[in-house]
Amino acid sequence: MSLKIKDTIEWVGKIDWELRKFHGEELSTAHGSSYNSFLIKDENNILIDTVWSPYAGEFLKNLAKTIDIRSINGIIACHAEPDHSGALPYLISMMPDVPVYCTANGQKSLYGYYHQNWNFNIVKTGMRVNIGSRELLFIEAPMLHWPDTMMCFLTGDNILFSNDIFGQHYASNFLFNDLVPQEELSYEALKYYANIISPFNKKVIGKLAELDTLNLVIDMICPAHGVIWRDKPTSIIEKYKKWAGDYSENQITIIYDTMYNSTRRMAEAIAEGIKLADQKVFIKLFNSSREDKSNIITEIFQSKGIIIGAPTINNGLTGSIYALLEELKLLNLSNKKGGAFGSYGWSPTSIILINEKLKEANFEVIGEGIKSQWSPDETKLDECKNYGFEFANYFNS
Ligand code: FEO
Repeated sequence: MSLKIKDTIEWVGKIDWELRKFHGEELSTAHGSSYNSFLIKDENNILIDTVWSPYAGEFLKNLAKTIDIRSINGIIACHAEPDHSGALPYLISMMPDVPVYCTANGQKSLYGYYHQNWNFNIVKTGMRVNIGSRELLFIEAPMLHWPDTMMCFLTGDNILFSNDIFGQHYASNFLFNDLVPQEELSYEALKYYANIISPFNKKVIGKLAELDTLNLVIDMICPAHGVIWRDKPTSIIEKYKKWAGDYSENQITIIYDTMYNSTRRMAEAIAEGIKLADQKVFIKLFNSSREDKSNIITEIFQSKGIIIGAPTINNGLTGSIYALLEELKLLNLSNKKGGAFGSYGWSPTSIILINEKLKEANFEVIGEGIKSQWSPDETKLDECKNYGFEFANYFNS
């Protein structure tokens, strides 16, 4: 399948309807994804990125229906991660001398993956390649999200090919942002940012400022995953500016694990207390052992505060809470408040550890948290309510 996005530009990628996990088992992709590849026809025909290797055969077969593959004059490899470079070895074996445009780190990564000395043409920000009636301007974007990442801008049509940046893991038969359910799209774009891009917030801020100085008129943004931003294309840039700053919504999220429902009952009492203090705040509760980790991270990303609870087990934390707290340290979140709670039998270690790890993850920890030895009685549940009440009120002080 190929789809025209402009008279001389076709989408030649692959929609992966069945993808449910990405980056191995790390990231959930409830709506599938796509690997977007674009063919620009001009005096020099240019292919931008390819697809993940399991789909390489299908990709080449489809591409051959669109163009005589040997008439492709150049390949732009914006990013070496195999979901975009997977078909390159097969493609380049059909035309071994084809120039491959990539960053210096792109060459290292592509060689590292495929161990072949292709006809690499190293590009840097500001370099241009003339393809006939138009030019491609290269814009390096290191650490968004890999050291090798770059974008390129097509003059004339004013299209920014942004690779992973501005992407969404979102499979759709519609190719454009204005044709899909907006709530789904917004959620998937946010989830993608929270889980993949947010560790590099500072780089995002710098790169978007640099993009502004280029004064590009952008009519369309083509990321390497999900739909193309053609309706108000720069609105996703504005969202990225917001997300990369001290982003939060009016939401407090309680994430807990529980063995015998003691910590769960504490969580629900804390939620009642929050509601008593603030009728407008969104309160969400997740059992970390039952809810998908990527979804929890998305909720944390948009929360102004989180309260984490776990019982003490083996003088430590349950596995899902431990893993979540460790991951939070990697996400570079800022301007968020945190709290801790949990039940215990012999030692309240879990609460101590949660507080420590929240601080390490750059959360402002409110108080010492609340603990319950054994199962909480009504008095303890009232204390939990009070704790939630005070936690919520902290945002008003
Ligand atoms: Fe879509 Fe970083 O690969």
